[in-house]
Amino acid sequence: MKVLNSIADLRETITSLQQKKKIAFVPTMGNLHQGHIDLVDRAHELADIVIVSIFVNPMQFSAGEDLNNYPRTLDRDISKLKAANVDYLFLPDESEIYTDDLANNTQVVVPGMSSLWCGSSRARHFEGVTTVVNKLFNMVQPDIAVFGEKDFQQLTIIRKMVADLNMSVEIVGVPTRREEDGLAMSSRNGYLTEKEREIAPKLRQMLLNIQKTILSSETHDFESIISQEANTLNQSGFKTDYLAICRQSDLQPASPGDKDLVILAAAYLGKARLIDNLILD
Ligand code: PAJ
Repeated sequence: MKVLNSIADLRETITSLQQKKKIAFVPTMGNLHQGHIDLVDRAHELADIVIVSIFVNPMQFSAGEDLNNYPRTLDRDISKLKAANVDYLFLPDESEIYTDDLANNTQVVVPGMSSLWCGSSRARHFEGVTTVVNKLFNMVQPDIAVFGEKDFQQLTIIRKMVADLNMSVEIVGVPTRREEDGLAMSSRNGYLTEKEREIAPKLRQMLLNIQKTILSSETHDFESIISQEANTLNQSGFKTDYLAICRQSDLQPASPGDKDLVILAAAYLGKARLIDNLILD
């Protein structure tokens, strides 16, 4: 009998016993664009088999949000996934994922971070995300799961869930794919009118301005930088939801002297709620 004391030894032993192919998993809600395909491409680099899921998860939408109108483009999505050489598409019905009604389903909650920023304006959103991602991981049993840095708070919360629950999956982040004018690709960009679409890249420009100010100034008065930039954004037609300079590790507001920061932003433009971020290492 061998005695294994560390989780790393235990995992290595189990992997060598199973001798299976490496599986990378990319969970999505469909309406796929090049940002999603970047995740698939990264998954191919890291594993033998790539599995993508498309499931518009009702648990992460609150009442009044766009669950019913969320863009569903299955035929086009399937063509894109075939062209990207995806091995398997997991395309479950809601009844396949939630056997009990949503309110009675066991939930996976990452406390603290889940109620900040997007979690504060979208009540119980991240509880819905962590619950469904946990369920999908149990179904797919991937070695690796690939997520976009576009949803930086989501990625950070999922990393925390995986670490806290000792889940045997490696989480990989992929940089945000942008349109030529800098707008982060998103399924929700489709809600923008032609005029709003012209204004939309200002969200990214605002993040770059903040970066420039932080890197060039000595004072690091984050609060005044933020309120100035939020004002400018609002004047150009956005309604800023939040704008924050945070620590990457726990997403708490940064203090001068903190390292490894991320600027997080969410703003409404007409019907669309756009989010973006800028990682400052
Ligand atoms: P969805 O919005 O479809 O995004 C699926 C994945 O694609 C996420 O990891 C997201 O961060 C990534 N992604 C979206 N836009 C991107 C871009 N412009 N560049 C790079 N990656 C991008 O996020 C979800 O779905 C759901 O919350 C989910 C994790 C599937 C759970 O339901």
